[in-house]
Amino acid sequence: MYNGYFGLKENPFNLSPDPAFLYRSPQHEEALANLIYGVQSRKGFIVLTGEVGTGKTTMLECLRDYLEQAGVEFAFVFNSRITSEQFFEMIAYDLDLRCQRNSKTEVLFALNQLLIQQANDGRTSVLIVDEAHNLEWDVLEEIRLLGNLENPRIGKLLQIILSGQPELDRKLDAPNLRQLKQRIVLRCSLQPLTLKESNEYINSRLLHAGLENQTIFPDPLLIELHLRTQGIPRLINAVCDNMLLAAFAIETKVCTLEMLDEISSDMRLEWPGRRTPRQRGQSGFEPAPYTPGD
Ligand SMILES: Nc1ncnc2c1ncn2[C@@H]1O[C@H](COP(=O)(O)OP(=O)(O)O)[C@@H](O)[C@H]1O
Ligand SMILES: [Mg+2]
Repeated sequence: MYNGYFGLKENPFNLSPDPAFLYRSPQHEEALANLIYGVQSRKGFIVLTGEVGTGKTTMLECLRDYLEQAGVEFAFVFNSRITSEQFFEMIAYDLDLRCQRNSKTEVLFALNQLLIQQANDGRTSVLIVDEAHNLEWDVLEEIRLLGNLENPRIGKLLQIILSGQPELDRKLDAPNLRQLKQRIVLRCSLQPLTLKESNEYINSRLLHAGLENQTIFPDPLLIELHLRTQGIPRLINAVCDNMLLAAFAIETKVCTLEMLDEISSDMRLEWPGRRTPRQRGQSGFEPAPYTPGD
């Protein structure tokens, strides 16, 4: 809507996890390198954790691109609120297994055949599960068993990537998942962006959308934006998108703190040190701090 106005070729702050917009912060770079290394070296289980909106699905989408280019077979389970029957059906569908897809026995048999055939051709196969913190215990148990498929010569036949919110780590600490936990050979976690990264992130998305040396978000505003979004990429996207829309609506090419204030309150953002309107005074002016004895 506002793209033409700002000289952008496409929407810079789309919420979809699009690898084309990847900003390679050191930790995103490291996480992706770990995922690829884990798959290539047939490590077995790999776990990726991070708070909501820190870029986990984006990393998995980058991995998907890599696997497609490398011709590696993979199944991508993105809906984790599923029964074990649905889980096997999804794998069978993704891997195009020729069997009765609603029969666990048939799926397992066909999967085993595929994995062995792939391994004999010198290839590995991958199972990616996003939002894995939502998995039911019995589905996790099935995943653990899939991780057992092994060839003594080649190693693990199926590389399994579990990605989820930090609850996933706690879930994997449960006594009944001890065996699975012991199998995890690689762990990576994503943290919110630092101020410097958050600024680079915004610039990099704008650059990718066709805008060099952006002047839409002045430096002091970027500092406040980082504070209010806490460096969470998804929130940064939502706030920046809203700010561009607000600026477009009043025909200005520079965003302001007032716009950010309004958007923060519309989005009900919470951040450390945030003052409620009452604390700021009804008029919006900050009352002088009250000190006893004044
Ligand atoms: N490193 C990154 N580069 C570019 N965009 C990112 C990056 N990390 C996160 N994002 C963006 O932030 C939003 C949330 O990312 P997402 O991968 O969906 O987070 P999560 O899966 O951890 O909740 C998406 O719009 C995504 O494009
Ligand atoms: Mg996600």
